[in-house]
Amino acid sequence: MRKVYRGRDVEVTFDLDICIHVGECLRGDPKVFKLQRRPWVLPDDGAADVIAEVVERCPSGALMYRRLGRGSQEEHAGATTVTAMRNGPLLVTGNVEVRHEDGTVETLPRATLCRCGQSLHKPFCDNQHIATGFRAPGVAFKIHLSPVRPHSADQPIATAEDPRADS
Ligand code: SF4
Ligand code: FES
Repeated sequence: MRKVYRGRDVEVTFDLDICIHVGECLRGDPKVFKLQRRPWVLPDDGAADVIAEVVERCPSGALMYRRLGRGSQEEHAGATTVTAMRNGPLLVTGNVEVRHEDGTVETLPRATLCRCGQSLHKPFCDNQHIATGFRAPGVAFKIHLSPVRPHSADQPIATAEDPRADS
C-alpha cells in the first residue's frame, strides 16, 4: 500500500511492496530519508529539488514525488525504455500503468519487473533472484551498502523485516 508524506513544497509517496532495497534514498538524502525514524520520510527536512533528484534515482518506483509549489514534476514524454539489470530484474522507465487487483490503476514513472520468474509479487521484482542465484547478462547495477543492505550487495533485508513497514 502506498503511503503519503506531505511537505510544504513536495509530497513524497512510498510503496514498500515494490521496493527492491537498493538504498538510493537513504544514501541520497539521509536527513529526509531515515530508516528508523517515524515518519521515515520528512520532506521538509530537505530541498525539494534534491528530494526530486533522489526520488528519481529509486529504480523500482517505490518512491514517487509530486511538487506542491513551483518546479517540474517527473515526466517521461519519450519512449518507454526497458533495461535488463545483470543477474536481476528489468528496469523500466516511462509511464507504466499498473492495474491492481481491486481495479484501481496506478501510473509509475519507474518500475523493476521480475525477469527470473521467481518473484512472489509479480510483475514486480521482490529480490527472489538473489535467493535463487539467478544469472543473466545485463547492465551492471550499482548497489551500495546502506541500512537496507547492511552486509553485502547480495543480501538486502527482507521486506517483512524492513522497519518502514510501520512507518
Ligand atoms: S528501491 Fe531503493 S531507492 Fe527505492 S525506496 Fe527502495 S531502497 Fe529506496
Ligand atoms: S528478477 Fe528479482 S525476483 Fe525475479
